[in-house]
Amino acid sequence: MEMLGLYPVFYVPNFGSAWLMGLTGTIHILASHTSVGAGMLFAFLAHKAYKEDRPELYDYMKRYGMFLLIFSYVIGSITGPGIWYTATAASPRGISALIHNFVWVWATEWVFFIYEVIGVFALVYFIDKIDRKTHLKLTYTFAIASVGTLALIIGIISFMMWPGNDAFYNTGSASDAFFGMNTFPHMFLRIGFMIMMSGIIGMIISSAMKKDNAALSKELTQKMGIVSLLGGFVTMFFFMWYIMTLPANASAILALPSNSGIILQRIILAILFSVYFLVAIFKPQWISRTLAIVMLFVIGISGVWPGEKLRESMRKPYVAGQYIYSNNIIARDVPGKGIKSEVPILAAKGFLKVDPWVPERLRTITPENKLEVGEMLTKRACSNCHSLETNGKYRPMATLIATKLPGKDAATINNYMKNVIGTGAVSYMPKIALPDEEYDAMAAWMATQVK
Ligand code: HEC
Repeated sequence: MEMLGLYPVFYVPNFGSAWLMGLTGTIHILASHTSVGAGMLFAFLAHKAYKEDRPELYDYMKRYGMFLLIFSYVIGSITGPGIWYTATAASPRGISALIHNFVWVWATEWVFFIYEVIGVFALVYFIDKIDRKTHLKLTYTFAIASVGTLALIIGIISFMMWPGNDAFYNTGSASDAFFGMNTFPHMFLRIGFMIMMSGIIGMIISSAMKKDNAALSKELTQKMGIVSLLGGFVTMFFFMWYIMTLPANASAILALPSNSGIILQRIILAILFSVYFLVAIFKPQWISRTLAIVMLFVIGISGVWPGEKLRESMRKPYVAGQYIYSNNIIARDVPGKGIKSEVPILAAKGFLKVDPWVPERLRTITPENKLEVGEMLTKRACSNCHSLETNGKYRPMATLIATKLPGKDAATINNYMKNVIGTGAVSYMPKIALPDEEYDAMAAWMATQVK
């Protein structure tokens, strides 16, 4: 029997592998976005220091650079590969799709990244050892390399949401995959956020300089306030454009009642941070280092984390390119890449026949192993998007069944799977068509979990 090229299921109880991705992603984004933002900020500051002959700005850049080395480059370099590991475990075929489309884009990104890492060391350690003109040139190239990493990675991340054009499926070409309709709004949205982050971090450094040089501390806090406010506006503007370039399935997820709070939360956050930036501009002496650090955590916990979680969930039912489902099944033909949909194969044969990871003793359903098979199949087909524990935190299956399906028994669940999920009737769930006996085993197990 021909097997599908599936990988084992990486199952994270209660929280789900997607949350693990979101968590690693959030920490990485805080670190990486700060470093790209700082790349642009340094170019601006070094330009100013050089043109206006302001040696004290070099001192600020040095302190900022030190902070950046620890905060961005240590944390960023750990969480970057961390994302690779997490994504590979959670979604091996998603990562494989990205590698098969973008291997050279990624290789190029790494060249920029290596330049960036060496550049930041050079900028910090050579700042008072090389002449200022050379230092200025170095900051310019550092900024270009930093923005380069962003520009390349954004095309890849945008492809995860969707290719954004139909040509890709036939040509399979990297540029059709890269340049989708949401690539640029996404890129500028991130650039705005990076500029804002560089200001938020900048305030931590400038407010800590009060004792040494009160006037400079005040001036820099003000400048960082302006930089952040500007970045914030750019972010908001492109966020609205970005929302308009999303595929229909993403808009459907956004419209779910469970996501209604997030837009309101974004607005509250925008107001809160505008006030913070305005205080920095008009009353810079009020900004203390403690406040600046607290605001960094606020943006991380209430800004980036829900944002990343939303972006992860808006891709549903896909994990990459609208052809790999979150549960790693190939959802459609991609002639340009010689890829064939697996949905009809599963409908005809079922997981038990074509999933290489099914233990031999579970390949045939018997009254004794039915519940065990049901649990295994539910893990394979559904656990990427639902935690299976009764009190799970990640779209808990049992709670959804108990609240959304009129009956809670095996027959209702079976019927729902066959007629709703099996026909692809809801846009946010994959079409999972399976033979009757597999639905039957899954429904029997799920019914035992519903209270
Ligand atoms: C690609 C992700 C994904 C997969 C895979 C998935 N679901 Fe869902 N499911 C969702 C989303 C998103 C919702 C909407 C949750 C909400 O309302 O907040 C949902 C909702 C549900 C609901 C509630 C009823 C409804 O229509 O909203 C049930 C029941 C359900 N899923 C069962 C399953 C079963 C059974 C499987 C496996 C056969 C499965 N799901 C696989 C994403 C998924």
